[in-house]
Amino acid sequence: MNLTILLVLLAFECSVCLCDYWADRAKLIEDEHSQILGSSITLTPKEEVVNKKLIKIKSDEYDKGFNNVLNFLPSQHFFKTKAQVESSEVFKFIQKVPKGADLHAHDSAIVSDQFLFNLTYRSNLYACFQNGSLRLRFFSTPNLSCNWTLLATLRQADPSINDLIRSRITLVVDNPETRYRTEREIWAAFLNVLDLVTPVITYRPVFEDYFYRALEELYEDNVIYMELRGLLPQVYELNGTVYDGVDVAGLYVNVLKKFKQDYPDFVGAKFIYTPLRSADNVTAWKYVETLKALKKRYPDFVIGFDLAGEEERGFPLKNFIPQLTNIQGSLVKIIYDKRL
Ligand SMILES: *[C@@H]1O[C@H](CO)[C@@H](O)[C@H](O)[C@H]1NC(C)=O
Ligand SMILES: *[C@@H]1O[C@H](CO)[C@@H](O)[C@H](O)[C@H]1NC(C)=O
Ligand SMILES: *[C@@H]1O[C@H](CO)[C@@H](O)[C@H](O)[C@H]1NC(C)=O
Ligand SMILES: *[C@@H]1O[C@H](CO)[C@@H](O)[C@H](O)[C@H]1NC(C)=O
Ligand SMILES: *[C@@H]1O[C@H](CO)[C@@H](O)[C@H](O)[C@H]1NC(C)=O
Ligand SMILES: *[C@@H]1O[C@H](CO)[C@@H](O)[C@H](O)[C@H]1NC(C)=O
Repeated sequence: MNLTILLVLLAFECSVCLCDYWADRAKLIEDEHSQILGSSITLTPKEEVVNKKLIKIKSDEYDKGFNNVLNFLPSQHFFKTKAQVESSEVFKFIQKVPKGADLHAHDSAIVSDQFLFNLTYRSNLYACFQNGSLRLRFFSTPNLSCNWTLLATLRQADPSINDLIRSRITLVVDNPETRYRTEREIWAAFLNVLDLVTPVITYRPVFEDYFYRALEELYEDNVIYMELRGLLPQVYELNGTVYDGVDVAGLYVNVLKKFKQDYPDFVGAKFIYTPLRSADNVTAWKYVETLKALKKRYPDFVIGFDLAGEEERGFPLKNFIPQLTNIQGSLVKIIYDKRL
């Protein structure tokens, strides 16, 4: 074979492979498009208009991000960009679009921090410092368990307590990367928030308003159904009455009924009983009893069972097999997690 023939052959090979390349590439892109979620849906002319608008504002946000990655909000820590995300055109668009369901919400973290903060203006709320930590609780007359003082009085004396409260009811900090270096640190901070907030939101009138507001905040985002996971904490009255278990579920059911009267197009909410994972066998059998009582009293509302708490520290679910198989028949769903 002389050199000329070889070169001609090479050139031929090359043009063949390039030609294959572009055809394969086009085919690959087409195949991928045909597998994208929703690719088989044909939009109506009106939907086309809406879709064009969404793609336009989405592309604008991408373009800004390509020009300067600091403009691309998902590339930064959520704490730092949350406010900007909420004012983004794409977010505002998605907020209005009808959405199905919020399928994973835990009882103690379902309202905005602004609403939580506002709750601290209710009357009869007392504050004290125990070991340097702020505590809050409603009393008609406080007991001697701490140096309880009306929060309103403390506020008058020193309005900066508001900054302290604001900083204690959320995980948001200016330096999340250094403040929370490990999962354990963020769990500890999270549990501190719950310690402060739980006695506020488990005062019965607040408990009801809190759940109502949670539904309202979903509704404002056009979410029409919720599955709530809840511990069923003890809920108290100022006169010392304490509700638990089935009674607390009853409070949810009543609030939900009222909410559906006020917003008839809201589809509803269901409940997944989710007590603490760090339980011994005796406690776990109590969970089974509570669940059965709940299911009997509110068969349509109570649909599932789950365990809450830091997964790495609690027992794996295989330690609770007798309890779980005992309740299996009475439920729509048991939440099996990564520690099964
Ligand atoms: C909290 O209270 C302020 C002042 O009364 C009010 O403007 C704001 O709408 C309230 N926010 C929520 C979420 O309740
Ligand atoms: C307060 O701190 C002391 C000493 O660290 C500890 O023994 C006590 O249990 C703490 N009290 C509370 C209510 O956390
Ligand atoms: C004070 O009241 C709280 C809340 O009801 C209760 O947990 C605590 O045991 C009481 N402490 C005393 C000393 O009465
Ligand atoms: C109790 O709290 C009040 C209000 O903060 C404060 O003035 C007072 O010194 C405290 N008493 C004790 C014994 O710490
Ligand atoms: C305590 O208050 C609740 C709510 O107002 C009321 O239903 C209940 O009867 C009261 N209990 C007592 C013992 O006064
Ligand atoms: C519960 O009892 C079973 C069987 O005796 C045991 O294997 C399991 O570790 C126990 N679970 C817990 C959480 O102690």
